[in-house]
Parts: sequence; structure tokens; C-alpha cells
Amino acid sequence: MNSVSAGYGGGLVLRDVSLTVEAGRATCIVGPNGAGKSTMLKVICDDLRPVSGTIEIDGEQVTGIGPAAAIRRGVVMIPQTNALFPGMTVRENILLGGHAIRIRGRAARQRFDELAVMFPIIRERASAHAGLLSGGQRRMVEFARALMSRPRVVLLDEPSIGLDPKSRETLAGSVRALVEAGTTVVLVEQNVRFGLSLAATGVIMESGRFVASGPADRLLDDPGLRAVFLGGHAASTTEEH
Ligand SMILES: Nc1ncnc2c1ncn2[C@@H]1O[C@H](COP(=O)(O)OP(=O)(O)OP(=O)(O)O)[C@@H](O)[C@H]1O
Ligand SMILES: [Mg+2]
Repeated sequence: MNSVSAGYGGGLVLRDVSLTVEAGRATCIVGPNGAGKSTMLKVICDDLRPVSGTIEIDGEQVTGIGPAAAIRRGVVMIPQTNALFPGMTVRENILLGGHAIRIRGRAARQRFDELAVMFPIIRERASAHAGLLSGGQRRMVEFARALMSRPRVVLLDEPSIGLDPKSRETLAGSVRALVEAGTTVVLVEQNVRFGLSLAATGVIMESGRFVASGPADRLLDDPGLRAVFLGGHAASTTEEH
């Protein structure tokens, strides 16, 4: 994305932000609450139209094409807040993920079965209403739904929130498998250590701007950079596990 400014109503949240994400790798965006991380992801998946600037995927202009068209171009987002239909079953929710690119019938069933191998919870609770699942289980279903369309770019907003350590490891394994399969991943994480451990590159965001970026492992070990975004809470936030 080039020189993107975006916001809600009158106010700007992102101010002239440019980011190039390496294809087939994971990039993790970290920063304090309200920094504009979710807004970034919304702009990338065309859920929010920027005030100025452009978004390109593999050299193709996608600015302002809308979320459904973005999915057809291979970009899916798993939002921060619960996005499942509670009255529909786990299976129905997941199959919806194929609708935008018209994966139906046998192809949809086949893809569903592949995902059920990746996420055991899907197999176990396929017929349960999504509204009956725990928060952590819902995250896994949301993740699986996003993968229905075999996206090229996956955007994950705070994927580890509400997950127990075991589910978090399942999720980490899925993210790594995606990257190994050549998918580009952009994730936002509150759990800085977890997020950066999954990524090749880390980007630190503060007040709608990028303040630093670099190889994720180095970013994690740099106390100066940690101080930039963690402030006085560095110890409690990064020493979680
Ligand atoms: N739908 C909206 N309408 C109006 N303002 C919004 C909306 N969504 C976010 N904002 C504002 O934009 C700013 C950035 O929000 P954003 O959600 O991008 O931050 P974030 O970095 O993802 O924070 P968090 O870590 O808390 O998820 C905040 O000041 C927020 O109040
Ligand atoms: Mg957010």
C-alpha cells in the first residue's frame, strides 16, 4: 500500500502509511490500542476505502473494489470481533466462506473435509450452532471459514485472543502451514511475542504511523524498540509465556 490515509467520518486514523508486504511470508503488525492496526487491515481487504493512497496486490490495483471483489482476488480477513452467524451450524458458517468465489457442491464439501482435518474442532462440532461454541472454538471456525476460498493473502486481526495454549498452538501451526504453502499472511497481535514468533517481518505502529520495522526475531530482542510501543508495560505484556 502506498501513501494511504484513512479514517472514519472526518478524522484520519492512518496518516500517509506505506507498507510493502513480502509475498509468501508472514508480517506481524504490533502497537498499542488505538494505533490503527485494525484500520490497516480493513483498508487492505477493502472493507474501508482510503481517503487517499492506493493498495496493490501482486502489482494489481485493488483500491476501492469492495470486500467481495477482494475475496475474489484472493484476500480474506479474519476480523477482531466475532463474525460467525450464531443461528447457523459450524458447517454452514464455514461453507459460506466459499460463496464469494462460488465454491459450491462437491468442491465445497471436499474443501470442508480438508479443513476438518486441519481443525479437529470442526469435525467434532460440525452440526452445532456456532452460537453454542466457546470464544476460542469460534476463532478456529472463523479461521477455517476464511480458508474455504484458498486465499493468497490472509489478514488476521488478533487471532490469539481468547485461545487457550493448546488452541493457540493449533492456530500457530495453521499459520505456519499457510505460509509454507505460499500464502501471504498479515497479522496483528496483542501478544507481541506470539505474533512476532510467527512472522518473518515485524512492523511497529503508533498513532496511525509506522515507527519501525525489521526482521521479526530482531525486533523481539531489541529493548529500545520494545520500549517504543510497549512503554511502561513492557514487562507484563511480553513476558506472558
Ligand atoms: N468504526 C469506527 N468508527 C469510528 N472510529 C473508529 C472505528 N473503528 C476504529 N475507530 C477509531 O480509530 C482508531 C484506531 O482504531 P483501530 O481499531 O484501527 O486500532 P487498533 O490499533 O486496532 O486498536 P486495538 O489494539 O485496540 O484493536 C481508534 O481511535 C478508534 O476509536
Ligand atoms: Mg484492533
